[in-house]
Amino acid sequence: MFSPAPPPHYRDPLTIGGVRLASRFTLAPLAGYTNYPFRRSVRAIGGVGLCTTDLVNARAILEGSAKTMDLLATGPDDRPLSVQIFGGNAGEMADAAKWLRDYGATLIDINMGCPVRKVVSVGGGSAMMCDTTGATVRLVEQVVRATALPVTVKMRLGWDDDHLTAPHFAREFEAVGVAGLTIHGRTREQGFTGAVNRAGIRAVVEAVERIPVFGNGDVLSIADAESMIRDTGCDGLAIGRGALANPWCFAQLDAWVRTGDPGPRATYAERLDFMRLHLVRLIDWKREDRFGCVNFRKVAAWYGKALRVSKADKHALTQLSSLAEFDGMAARWRDSGPPPGWTDWDAHEAQIAVPAGPNAHW
Ligand SMILES: Cc1cc2nc3c(=O)[nH]c(=O)nc-3n(C[C@H](O)[C@H](O)[C@H](O)COP(=O)(O)O)c2cc1C
Repeated sequence: MFSPAPPPHYRDPLTIGGVRLASRFTLAPLAGYTNYPFRRSVRAIGGVGLCTTDLVNARAILEGSAKTMDLLATGPDDRPLSVQIFGGNAGEMADAAKWLRDYGATLIDINMGCPVRKVVSVGGGSAMMCDTTGATVRLVEQVVRATALPVTVKMRLGWDDDHLTAPHFAREFEAVGVAGLTIHGRTREQGFTGAVNRAGIRAVVEAVERIPVFGNGDVLSIADAESMIRDTGCDGLAIGRGALANPWCFAQLDAWVRTGDPGPRATYAERLDFMRLHLVRLIDWKREDRFGCVNFRKVAAWYGKALRVSKADKHALTQLSSLAEFDGMAARWRDSGPPPGWTDWDAHEAQIAVPAGPNAHW
């Protein structure tokens, strides 16, 4: 398989506020998916520089709800770890950052990109990109001052095409001590549709002086990674949906950067093993077979698709209720091996559910 040449400087180490990353490829947060079970499974494959939790409400952290503690679940095999917080109240955001330092987070990430109502309605997420009068920058500064941990921001390009505020905020954030940025190259109005505006990402890269900028959006292959880096000049890449579809992407990108060759794609057996590992860890996390299986159902569809399991098995996966049941099916797939014509699978085929529109209840 042909691979474009990797950018030579991607071999040089990258740090965020003094935290050295093992690679320049990070896992972008995907609420409901990039939880501890998934992160540790991806880390076991290797090549990932940094993982981030789902977005967590700052107030809920301070209240210590059981659901929030589940979202914050982590372990020694999950470092370096960035915890992403959202909220519109500077005091709460700063207190949450202090709490997270004691909890053991490596970095704090502030969400300024989320388009969904539950986040925007409390003044968090992409709503923060509308206020260029100084309140947003002051909030971020307060979080930076509250903790010695590096603070990063993940944002979109702006609210809509007429308000591309990301370069402005990038400059201001660097000035108040933010240690790195991730830019999803879409506006809030775009939601998850339309093309990623790479010129918009480049404008952010050019707006800052020293801090690293991670380009984000629709990177699903080595070719996408190469062109994103070339078009934007970004210092690293954050990959979300591409990592769900192909958890080997970080190891492949890392090998590509080091040797010019991403190596082989995952085999049928490796895909099957990963699928089981993910399920077992979801069960550990939810402390019960059934709850782990319910959580697994939404990811099972694309695992099943990648393995090209039968329609009946796909249906059974959507109703999975125990590990024993899964093992019964997996034993059959293992015995029969890949179906005729199975070669490998392209992450571009994955259809991962996204919030349906900017105003969706997600
Ligand atoms: C289901 C889903 C959940 C997401 N949750 C978060 C989140 O919690 N925090 C965040 O900053 N971005 C979130 N995003 C945005 C992604 O991190 C990323 O910016 C976006 O999906 C584009 O990158 P990708 O094409 O590599 O997935 C979410 C996206 C999706 C599809």
